[in-house]
Amino acid sequence: MSAYVISGGRRLEGCVSVHGAKNSVLPILAATILSGGVSVIHNCPNLSDVAASIAILEHLGCHVRREGETVTVDSAGLDRCDIPEKLMREMRSSVIFLGPILARTGQARVSMPGGCELGPRPVDLHLAALRRLGAEIREAGGNLHCSAPRGLRAAEINLSIPSVGATENVMLAACGARGTTVINNAAREPEIWDLQQFLNACGARVRGAGSSVIAVEGGIPLHAAEHRVIADRICAATYLSAAALAGGEVTVEGVPRAQLAPVTDLFTAAGCRLREEPHRVTLTSDGRLRRVPPVRTAPYPGFPTDAQPPVMAALTRAAGSSVFVETIFENRYRHTQELARMGADIRVEGRVAVVTGVPALHGAGLEAADLRGGAALVVAALGAEGESEITGIHHIRRGYDGLPRNLAALGANIAEV
Ligand code: UD1
Repeated sequence: MSAYVISGGRRLEGCVSVHGAKNSVLPILAATILSGGVSVIHNCPNLSDVAASIAILEHLGCHVRREGETVTVDSAGLDRCDIPEKLMREMRSSVIFLGPILARTGQARVSMPGGCELGPRPVDLHLAALRRLGAEIREAGGNLHCSAPRGLRAAEINLSIPSVGATENVMLAACGARGTTVINNAAREPEIWDLQQFLNACGARVRGAGSSVIAVEGGIPLHAAEHRVIADRICAATYLSAAALAGGEVTVEGVPRAQLAPVTDLFTAAGCRLREEPHRVTLTSDGRLRRVPPVRTAPYPGFPTDAQPPVMAALTRAAGSSVFVETIFENRYRHTQELARMGADIRVEGRVAVVTGVPALHGAGLEAADLRGGAALVVAALGAEGESEITGIHHIRRGYDGLPRNLAALGANIAEV
Protein backbone atom coordinates (compact mmCIF):
# COMPACT_ATOMS: atom_id res chain seq x y z
CA MET A 1 0.00 0.00 0.00
CA SER A 2 1.54 3.34 -0.98
CA ALA A 3 1.27 6.47 1.07
CA TYR A 4 2.49 10.06 1.07
CA VAL A 5 4.47 10.99 4.14
CA ILE A 6 4.50 14.74 4.67
CA SER A 7 6.28 16.79 7.33
CA GLY A 8 4.41 20.06 7.44
CA GLY A 9 5.43 23.58 8.26
CA ARG A 10 7.80 24.31 5.37
CA ARG A 11 7.25 27.43 3.26
CA LEU A 12 6.66 26.81 -0.43
CA GLU A 13 8.62 28.82 -2.98
CA GLY A 14 8.88 28.55 -6.74
CA CYS A 15 6.96 27.88 -9.93
CA VAL A 16 4.81 24.94 -11.03
CA SER A 17 3.85 24.39 -14.63
CA VAL A 18 0.41 22.84 -14.50
CA HIS A 19 -0.20 19.66 -16.49
CA GLY A 20 -2.98 18.99 -19.00
CA ALA A 21 -6.55 19.02 -17.73
CA LYS A 22 -7.94 15.62 -16.73
CA ASN A 23 -11.45 16.76 -17.56
CA SER A 24 -10.37 17.79 -21.07
CA VAL A 25 -8.24 14.85 -21.97
CA LEU A 26 -10.88 12.23 -21.12
CA PRO A 27 -13.59 13.43 -23.55
CA ILE A 28 -10.95 14.26 -26.18
CA LEU A 29 -9.55 10.72 -26.05
CA ALA A 30 -13.13 9.43 -26.41
CA ALA A 31 -13.59 11.80 -29.38
CA THR A 32 -10.62 10.30 -31.24
CA ILE A 33 -12.76 7.30 -32.23
CA LEU A 34 -15.10 9.46 -34.32
CA SER A 35 -12.70 9.84 -37.23
CA GLY A 36 -11.23 6.38 -37.79
CA GLY A 37 -7.85 8.08 -38.32
CA VAL A 38 -4.65 8.65 -36.34
CA SER A 39 -5.04 11.53 -33.87
CA VAL A 40 -2.19 12.96 -31.85
CA ILE A 41 -3.02 14.46 -28.47
CA HIS A 42 -0.34 16.49 -26.70
CA ASN A 43 -0.13 17.50 -23.04
CA CYS A 44 -1.78 14.30 -21.79
CA PRO A 45 -1.00 13.95 -18.10
CA ASN A 46 0.10 10.61 -16.71
CA LEU A 47 -3.00 9.85 -14.63
CA SER A 48 -4.76 6.61 -13.81
CA ASP A 49 -7.96 8.00 -15.39
CA VAL A 50 -6.04 8.56 -18.63
CA ALA A 51 -4.71 4.99 -18.40
CA ALA A 52 -8.31 3.79 -17.95
CA SER A 53 -9.38 5.72 -21.09
CA ILE A 54 -6.49 4.20 -23.03
CA ALA A 55 -7.52 0.72 -21.83
CA ILE A 56 -11.04 1.36 -23.15
CA LEU A 57 -9.69 2.58 -26.52
CA GLU A 58 -7.53 -0.56 -26.79
CA HIS A 59 -10.45 -2.80 -25.85
CA LEU A 60 -12.48 -1.19 -28.65
CA GLY A 61 -9.75 -2.13 -31.13
CA CYS A 62 -7.76 1.12 -31.36
CA HIS A 63 -3.96 1.20 -31.37
CA VAL A 64 -2.70 3.61 -28.74
CA ARG A 65 0.87 4.76 -28.20
CA ARG A 66 2.10 7.03 -25.43
CA GLU A 67 5.41 8.86 -25.77
CA GLY A 68 5.94 11.22 -22.85
CA GLU A 69 3.03 13.61 -22.77
CA THR A 70 1.81 12.68 -26.26
CA VAL A 71 -0.80 10.02 -26.87
CA THR A 72 -1.41 8.81 -30.42
CA VAL A 73 -4.69 7.02 -31.11
CA ASP A 74 -5.26 5.08 -34.33
CA SER A 75 -8.96 4.26 -34.33
CA ALA A 76 -9.07 2.67 -37.81
CA GLY A 77 -9.28 -0.84 -36.35
CA LEU A 78 -12.19 -0.13 -33.97
CA ASP A 79 -14.25 -3.32 -34.13
CA ARG A 80 -16.19 -3.42 -30.86
CA CYS A 81 -18.93 -1.33 -29.37
CA ASP A 82 -18.91 -2.48 -25.76
CA ILE A 83 -17.09 -1.43 -22.60
CA PRO A 84 -16.64 -4.21 -20.04
CA GLU A 85 -17.98 -3.60 -16.55
CA LYS A 86 -14.48 -3.69 -15.03
CA LEU A 87 -13.39 -0.69 -17.14
CA MET A 88 -16.66 1.15 -16.49
CA ARG A 89 -16.14 0.69 -12.76
CA GLU A 90 -12.58 1.95 -12.89
CA MET A 91 -13.70 5.36 -14.00
CA ARG A 92 -17.21 6.75 -13.85
CA SER A 93 -16.53 9.12 -16.73
CA SER A 94 -16.25 6.07 -19.04
CA VAL A 95 -19.86 6.93 -19.85
CA ILE A 96 -18.44 9.68 -22.08
CA PHE A 97 -17.62 6.93 -24.62
CA LEU A 98 -21.31 6.18 -25.13
CA GLY A 99 -21.97 9.06 -27.53
CA PRO A 100 -18.93 8.55 -29.77
CA ILE A 101 -19.27 4.74 -29.90
CA LEU A 102 -22.89 5.16 -30.92
CA ALA A 103 -22.00 7.77 -33.54
CA ARG A 104 -19.23 5.60 -34.99
CA THR A 105 -20.86 2.14 -34.92
CA GLY A 106 -24.62 2.72 -34.57
CA GLN A 107 -24.70 0.72 -31.34
CA ALA A 108 -23.11 0.65 -27.89
CA ARG A 109 -23.16 -1.61 -24.85
CA VAL A 110 -21.91 -0.40 -21.51
CA SER A 111 -22.71 -1.17 -17.89
CA MET A 112 -24.67 1.41 -15.98
CA PRO A 113 -22.20 3.59 -14.05
CA GLY A 114 -23.36 3.41 -10.45
CA GLY A 115 -22.85 5.95 -7.71
CA CYS A 116 -19.36 7.04 -6.78
CA GLU A 117 -17.50 8.47 -3.84
CA LEU A 118 -19.35 11.76 -4.30
CA GLY A 119 -22.80 10.16 -3.93
CA PRO A 120 -25.35 9.04 -6.51
CA ARG A 121 -24.37 10.25 -9.97
CA PRO A 122 -27.20 9.48 -12.36
CA VAL A 123 -26.77 9.55 -16.14
CA ASP A 124 -30.45 10.21 -16.87
CA LEU A 125 -29.66 13.44 -18.73
CA HIS A 126 -27.12 11.67 -20.97
CA LEU A 127 -29.64 8.94 -21.82
CA ALA A 128 -32.61 11.27 -22.37
CA ALA A 129 -30.51 13.40 -24.73
CA LEU A 130 -29.20 10.42 -26.70
CA ARG A 131 -32.79 9.15 -27.02
CA ARG A 132 -33.76 12.56 -28.46
CA LEU A 133 -31.02 12.00 -31.05
CA GLY A 134 -32.74 8.78 -32.11
CA ALA A 135 -30.94 6.20 -29.96
CA GLU A 136 -32.98 3.31 -28.63
CA ILE A 137 -31.70 2.54 -25.15
CA ARG A 138 -32.67 -0.49 -23.14
CA GLU A 139 -31.62 -0.77 -19.52
CA ALA A 140 -31.38 -4.40 -18.38
CA GLY A 141 -29.50 -6.07 -15.53
CA GLY A 142 -27.34 -3.02 -14.90
CA ASN A 143 -26.40 -2.76 -18.58
CA LEU A 144 -27.27 -0.22 -21.22
CA HIS A 145 -27.95 -1.54 -24.72
CA CYS A 146 -28.04 1.33 -27.19
CA SER A 147 -28.68 1.29 -30.90
CA ALA A 148 -29.56 3.72 -33.60
CA PRO A 149 -31.04 1.47 -36.27
CA ARG A 150 -31.98 4.38 -38.52
CA GLY A 151 -28.90 6.42 -37.64
CA LEU A 152 -28.75 9.35 -35.25
CA ARG A 153 -30.60 12.52 -36.19
CA ALA A 154 -30.21 16.06 -34.94
CA ALA A 155 -32.51 17.44 -32.26
CA GLU A 156 -32.92 20.36 -29.91
CA ILE A 157 -31.71 19.26 -26.46
CA ASN A 158 -32.73 21.18 -23.35
CA LEU A 159 -30.62 20.14 -20.38
CA SER A 160 -32.35 20.68 -17.03
CA ILE A 161 -28.90 21.01 -15.37
CA PRO A 162 -25.80 22.25 -17.22
CA SER A 163 -24.18 18.81 -16.83
CA VAL A 164 -20.59 18.71 -18.07
CA GLY A 165 -20.67 15.04 -19.03
CA ALA A 166 -24.10 15.19 -20.68
CA THR A 167 -23.08 18.26 -22.72
CA GLU A 168 -19.96 16.43 -23.94
CA ASN A 169 -21.79 13.19 -24.68
CA VAL A 170 -24.34 15.07 -26.79
CA MET A 171 -21.63 17.04 -28.64
CA LEU A 172 -19.86 13.77 -29.48
CA ALA A 173 -22.99 11.88 -30.54
CA ALA A 174 -24.29 14.88 -32.48
CA CYS A 175 -21.21 14.84 -34.72
CA GLY A 176 -22.64 11.61 -36.14
CA ALA A 177 -26.26 12.82 -36.30
CA ARG A 178 -27.73 14.19 -39.53
CA GLY A 179 -28.63 17.88 -39.22
CA THR A 180 -27.88 20.56 -36.65
CA THR A 181 -28.23 19.69 -32.97
CA VAL A 182 -28.69 22.54 -30.54
CA ILE A 183 -27.89 22.07 -26.84
CA ASN A 184 -29.62 24.59 -24.58
CA ASN A 185 -28.40 25.16 -20.99
CA ALA A 186 -25.10 23.56 -21.98
CA ALA A 187 -22.25 23.44 -19.47
CA ARG A 188 -19.82 26.33 -20.03
CA GLU A 189 -16.64 24.84 -18.57
CA PRO A 190 -13.33 25.57 -20.39
CA GLU A 191 -12.98 21.81 -20.97
CA ILE A 192 -16.12 21.92 -23.16
CA TRP A 193 -14.45 24.62 -25.25
CA ASP A 194 -11.35 22.44 -25.53
CA LEU A 195 -13.47 19.55 -26.81
CA GLN A 196 -15.01 21.90 -29.39
CA GLN A 197 -11.52 22.92 -30.53
CA PHE A 198 -10.51 19.29 -31.03
CA LEU A 199 -13.73 18.37 -32.85
CA ASN A 200 -13.39 21.37 -35.18
CA ALA A 201 -9.75 20.45 -35.83
CA CYS A 202 -11.17 17.09 -37.00
CA GLY A 203 -13.40 18.93 -39.48
CA ALA A 204 -16.56 19.09 -37.35
CA ARG A 205 -18.69 22.23 -37.21
CA VAL A 206 -19.33 22.95 -33.55
CA ARG A 207 -19.91 26.45 -32.23
CA GLY A 208 -20.98 28.12 -29.02
CA ALA A 209 -18.83 26.23 -26.48
CA GLY A 210 -18.23 28.51 -23.52
CA SER A 211 -21.78 29.85 -23.80
CA SER A 212 -25.04 28.15 -22.77
CA VAL A 213 -26.03 27.28 -26.33
CA ILE A 214 -23.96 24.92 -28.43
CA ALA A 215 -24.76 24.00 -32.03
CA VAL A 216 -23.31 20.93 -33.75
CA GLU A 217 -23.72 20.41 -37.49
CA GLY A 218 -23.63 16.66 -37.73
CA GLY A 219 -23.08 14.12 -40.47
CA ILE A 220 -19.80 15.63 -41.72
CA PRO A 221 -17.09 12.97 -42.22
CA LEU A 222 -14.34 13.69 -39.70
CA HIS A 223 -10.60 13.27 -40.12
CA ALA A 224 -7.92 12.78 -37.48
CA ALA A 225 -6.27 15.82 -35.89
CA GLU A 226 -3.44 16.96 -33.68
CA HIS A 227 -4.38 18.82 -30.52
CA ARG A 228 -2.85 20.20 -27.32
CA VAL A 229 -4.97 19.81 -24.20
CA ILE A 230 -5.51 22.92 -22.03
CA ALA A 231 -3.95 23.14 -18.55
CA ASP A 232 -5.70 21.82 -15.45
CA ARG A 233 -7.31 24.67 -13.51
CA ILE A 234 -8.13 22.41 -10.55
CA CYS A 235 -4.49 21.37 -10.14
CA ALA A 236 -3.57 25.06 -10.26
CA ALA A 237 -6.14 25.78 -7.53
CA THR A 238 -4.65 22.96 -5.44
CA TYR A 239 -1.10 24.39 -5.60
CA LEU A 240 -2.43 27.86 -4.74
CA SER A 241 -4.28 26.38 -1.74
CA ALA A 242 -1.11 24.69 -0.55
CA ALA A 243 0.87 27.94 -0.79
CA ALA A 244 -1.90 29.90 0.97
CA LEU A 245 -1.87 27.59 4.00
CA ALA A 246 1.82 26.67 4.20
CA GLY A 247 2.93 30.23 3.42
CA GLY A 248 5.46 31.28 0.81
CA GLU A 249 5.34 32.47 -2.79
CA VAL A 250 4.20 30.12 -5.53
CA THR A 251 3.58 30.77 -9.21
CA VAL A 252 1.30 28.48 -11.20
CA GLU A 253 1.81 28.60 -14.92
CA GLY A 254 -0.35 27.60 -17.85
CA VAL A 255 -3.92 28.37 -16.79
CA PRO A 256 -5.60 31.58 -18.07
CA ARG A 257 -6.19 33.81 -15.07
CA ALA A 258 -9.92 34.16 -15.82
CA GLN A 259 -10.37 30.43 -15.20
CA LEU A 260 -8.88 30.81 -11.74
CA ALA A 261 -10.75 33.98 -10.78
CA PRO A 262 -13.19 32.38 -8.29
CA VAL A 263 -10.23 30.86 -6.42
CA THR A 264 -7.85 33.83 -6.65
CA ASP A 265 -10.62 36.24 -5.56
CA LEU A 266 -11.20 34.04 -2.52
CA PHE A 267 -7.53 33.98 -1.54
CA THR A 268 -7.33 37.76 -1.99
CA ALA A 269 -10.25 38.05 0.44
CA ALA A 270 -8.38 35.70 2.80
CA GLY A 271 -5.43 38.13 2.90
CA CYS A 272 -3.04 36.61 0.35
CA ARG A 273 -1.31 38.77 -2.26
CA LEU A 274 -2.09 37.72 -5.84
CA ARG A 275 -0.19 38.82 -8.93
CA GLU A 276 -2.13 37.80 -12.01
CA GLU A 277 -0.70 37.73 -15.52
CA PRO A 278 -2.52 36.32 -18.55
CA HIS A 279 -1.25 32.73 -18.03
CA ARG A 280 0.53 32.93 -14.68
CA VAL A 281 -0.72 33.55 -11.19
CA THR A 282 1.59 34.17 -8.23
CA LEU A 283 0.27 33.84 -4.69
CA THR A 284 2.16 35.19 -1.71
CA SER A 285 1.01 34.25 1.76
CA ASP A 286 2.35 34.51 5.30
CA GLY A 287 0.18 31.52 6.19
CA ARG A 288 -2.04 33.64 8.45
CA LEU A 289 -5.33 33.82 6.60
CA ARG A 290 -8.64 35.36 7.59
CA ARG A 291 -12.19 34.16 7.06
CA VAL A 292 -13.80 34.61 3.63
CA PRO A 293 -17.37 35.42 2.52
CA PRO A 294 -19.57 32.33 1.89
CA VAL A 295 -18.27 30.01 -0.83
CA ARG A 296 -21.03 28.49 -2.95
CA THR A 297 -19.99 25.92 -5.53
CA ALA A 298 -21.67 26.37 -8.92
CA PRO A 299 -21.28 25.45 -12.57
CA TYR A 300 -18.63 27.46 -14.47
CA PRO A 301 -17.94 30.37 -14.19
CA GLY A 302 -18.94 29.88 -10.55
CA PHE A 303 -16.73 28.45 -7.82
CA PRO A 304 -15.68 24.95 -8.96
CA THR A 305 -16.90 22.07 -6.80
CA ASP A 306 -13.60 20.31 -7.54
CA ALA A 307 -11.66 23.14 -5.87
CA GLN A 308 -13.87 23.15 -2.76
CA PRO A 309 -11.95 20.49 -0.77
CA PRO A 310 -8.39 21.88 -1.19
CA VAL A 311 -9.56 25.46 -0.66
CA MET A 312 -11.45 24.40 2.48
CA ALA A 313 -8.27 22.76 3.77
CA ALA A 314 -6.42 26.06 3.23
CA LEU A 315 -8.97 27.90 5.42
CA THR A 316 -8.80 25.53 8.41
CA ARG A 317 -6.37 27.88 10.16
CA ALA A 318 -7.95 31.16 9.00
CA ALA A 319 -9.07 33.57 11.70
CA GLY A 320 -12.88 33.41 12.04
CA SER A 321 -15.51 31.19 10.44
CA SER A 322 -15.99 30.55 6.72
CA VAL A 323 -19.11 28.95 5.27
CA PHE A 324 -19.16 26.55 2.31
CA VAL A 325 -22.31 25.55 0.41
CA GLU A 326 -21.84 22.55 -1.89
CA THR A 327 -24.55 22.70 -4.55
CA ILE A 328 -23.25 20.18 -7.11
CA PHE A 329 -22.57 16.90 -5.31
CA GLU A 330 -24.30 15.38 -2.29
CA ASN A 331 -21.36 13.70 -0.66
CA ARG A 332 -18.46 16.04 -1.10
CA TYR A 333 -17.43 16.62 2.50
CA ARG A 334 -15.74 13.32 3.29
CA HIS A 335 -12.38 15.07 3.72
CA THR A 336 -13.81 17.04 6.66
CA GLN A 337 -13.68 14.01 8.98
CA GLU A 338 -10.02 13.50 8.18
CA LEU A 339 -9.27 17.23 8.57
CA ALA A 340 -10.91 17.02 12.01
CA ARG A 341 -8.35 14.36 12.94
CA MET A 342 -5.71 17.03 12.38
CA GLY A 343 -7.47 19.40 14.75
CA ALA A 344 -9.62 21.31 12.23
CA ASP A 345 -12.98 22.62 13.44
CA ILE A 346 -15.54 21.91 10.70
CA ARG A 347 -19.27 21.46 11.26
CA VAL A 348 -21.21 19.90 8.40
CA GLU A 349 -24.95 19.98 8.05
CA GLY A 350 -26.28 18.71 4.74
CA ARG A 351 -24.80 20.84 2.00
CA VAL A 352 -23.33 23.43 4.38
CA ALA A 353 -19.96 23.27 6.10
CA VAL A 354 -18.78 25.87 8.60
CA VAL A 355 -15.01 26.03 9.01
CA THR A 356 -13.82 27.82 12.12
CA GLY A 357 -10.13 28.54 12.03
CA VAL A 358 -7.92 26.90 14.66
CA PRO A 359 -4.48 28.21 15.67
CA ALA A 360 -2.67 25.10 14.39
CA LEU A 361 -3.18 21.73 12.69
CA HIS A 362 -1.21 18.69 13.76
CA GLY A 363 0.00 15.77 11.63
CA ALA A 364 -2.05 12.55 11.66
CA GLY A 365 -2.61 9.25 9.88
CA LEU A 366 -5.12 10.07 7.14
CA GLU A 367 -6.99 8.25 4.40
CA ALA A 368 -8.04 9.83 1.12
CA ALA A 369 -11.62 8.86 0.26
CA ASP A 370 -11.82 10.55 -3.14
CA LEU A 371 -9.67 12.49 -5.59
CA ARG A 372 -10.09 16.13 -4.54
CA GLY A 373 -10.71 15.19 -0.91
CA GLY A 374 -7.31 13.49 -1.05
CA ALA A 375 -5.76 16.68 -2.41
CA ALA A 376 -7.30 18.55 0.53
CA LEU A 377 -5.49 16.22 2.94
CA VAL A 378 -2.17 16.91 1.18
CA VAL A 379 -2.78 20.67 1.47
CA ALA A 380 -3.63 20.39 5.16
CA ALA A 381 -0.62 18.16 5.88
CA LEU A 382 1.69 20.74 4.27
CA GLY A 383 0.35 23.37 6.66
CA ALA A 384 0.30 21.15 9.77
CA GLU A 385 2.86 20.75 12.53
CA GLY A 386 4.52 17.34 12.49
CA GLU A 387 4.20 14.35 10.21
CA SER A 388 1.16 13.02 8.36
CA GLU A 389 0.83 9.78 6.47
CA ILE A 390 -1.84 9.77 3.76
CA THR A 391 -3.08 6.46 2.39
CA GLY A 392 -5.64 5.90 -0.38
CA ILE A 393 -3.39 7.84 -2.76
CA HIS A 394 -4.68 5.89 -5.78
CA HIS A 395 -7.58 8.36 -5.62
CA ILE A 396 -5.13 11.27 -5.86
CA ARG A 397 -3.30 9.68 -8.80
CA ARG A 398 -6.55 9.80 -10.78
CA GLY A 399 -6.09 13.54 -11.17
CA TYR A 400 -2.58 14.67 -10.19
CA ASP A 401 0.52 13.79 -12.18
CA GLY A 402 3.74 14.18 -10.19
CA LEU A 403 2.16 15.82 -7.15
CA PRO A 404 4.90 14.80 -4.65
CA ARG A 405 7.65 15.70 -7.13
CA ASN A 406 6.19 19.14 -7.83
CA LEU A 407 5.59 19.90 -4.15
CA ALA A 408 9.10 18.76 -3.24
CA ALA A 409 10.46 21.11 -5.92
CA LEU A 410 8.62 23.92 -4.12
CA GLY A 411 10.38 22.98 -0.89
CA ALA A 412 7.83 20.66 0.71
CA ASN A 413 8.99 17.71 2.74
CA ILE A 414 6.99 14.96 1.05
CA ALA A 415 7.87 11.39 0.14
CA GLU A 416 5.97 8.54 -1.41
CA VAL A 417 6.54 5.31 0.49
C1 UD1 B 1 -17.64 16.69 -14.38
C2 UD1 B 1 -16.20 16.58 -13.96
C3 UD1 B 1 -16.08 16.61 -12.44
C4 UD1 B 1 -16.78 17.84 -11.88
C5 UD1 B 1 -18.20 17.94 -12.40
C6 UD1 B 1 -18.91 19.22 -11.99
C7 UD1 B 1 -15.24 15.28 -15.76
C8 UD1 B 1 -14.59 14.02 -16.18
N1 UD1 B 1 -15.65 15.36 -14.48
O1 UD1 B 1 -18.31 15.53 -13.86
O2 UD1 B 1 -14.69 16.65 -12.11
O3 UD1 B 1 -16.81 17.75 -10.48
O4 UD1 B 1 -18.20 17.88 -13.84
O5 UD1 B 1 -18.17 20.31 -12.41
O6 UD1 B 1 -15.33 16.23 -16.51
N2 UD1 B 1 -26.46 14.89 -13.04
C9 UD1 B 1 -27.70 14.29 -13.10
N3 UD1 B 1 -27.99 13.54 -14.21
C10 UD1 B 1 -27.11 13.37 -15.24
C11 UD1 B 1 -25.84 14.00 -15.16
C12 UD1 B 1 -25.55 14.76 -14.04
O7 UD1 B 1 -28.53 14.42 -12.20
O8 UD1 B 1 -27.43 12.66 -16.19
C13 UD1 B 1 -26.12 15.70 -11.83
C14 UD1 B 1 -24.93 15.10 -11.06
O9 UD1 B 1 -25.35 14.09 -10.17
C15 UD1 B 1 -24.39 16.31 -10.36
C16 UD1 B 1 -24.65 17.46 -11.36
O10 UD1 B 1 -25.65 16.96 -12.25
O11 UD1 B 1 -25.12 16.57 -9.18
C17 UD1 B 1 -23.43 17.88 -12.16
O12 UD1 B 1 -22.86 16.75 -12.75
P1 UD1 B 1 -22.02 16.81 -14.11
O13 UD1 B 1 -21.80 18.22 -14.52
O14 UD1 B 1 -22.67 15.89 -15.08
O15 UD1 B 1 -20.64 16.18 -13.64
P2 UD1 B 1 -19.76 15.14 -14.42
O16 UD1 B 1 -19.80 15.41 -15.88
O17 UD1 B 1 -20.06 13.78 -13.94
